[in-house]
Amino acid sequence: KNIVILISGGGSNMAAIVRTAQREDWAQRHGAQVAAVISNKGTAGGLVFAKEQGIDTEVLDHKEFASREDFDAALAGVIDRYDTPQAPVLVVLAGFMRILTPGFVERYAGRLVNIHPSLLPAFPGLHTHQRAIDAGCKFAGVTVHQVTAELDHGPILAQAVVPVLLDDTADTLAARVLTQEHLIYPKAIAGLL
Ligand code: GRF
Repeated sequence: KNIVILISGGGSNMAAIVRTAQREDWAQRHGAQVAAVISNKGTAGGLVFAKEQGIDTEVLDHKEFASREDFDAALAGVIDRYDTPQAPVLVVLAGFMRILTPGFVERYAGRLVNIHPSLLPAFPGLHTHQRAIDAGCKFAGVTVHQVTAELDHGPILAQAVVPVLLDDTADTLAARVLTQEHLIYPKAIAGLL
């Protein structure tokens, strides 16, 4: 499989996946590699890391496209360069802050996954940590799921739970959740290869 990872920012989840895929045993057992990292933001910090690791990087600035459909078509064009019968792509969204069109989601159905920083179906959308704190949740967490046309609602592949502490802020909770993200995303991806 050729894993193509889509990012918009720091890419810490992408980095965790890359580091896992670089391990000898992982590559042998799964016969997969991270083939490319694509970002909709030229300033995404994760691009520097990917380049340092010798991984193809591409930037598609969504502001340069007339419509969401045009952007998604260009994105599919880049992804399909890495999609071959011998090594079909697995498209991994990791901190990718774009809503994808139903056409794009259909095209990659079953091989398109995302990580969302809440225990779905609770708190789809943004600002998940503050919302969990405001709701008085005692636990929060992260979900890895298949992507469907409905935002943050696809079949759940993996979850991890963390406690919400009384003095938590969105930032302290986010940091606790992020640690779990870096553990469960590589594992969930391995399960799909
Ligand atoms: C993380 O909270 C992740 O759950 C969400 O984007 C945030 C940043 O991820 N999808 P990363 O550090 O860019 O991987």
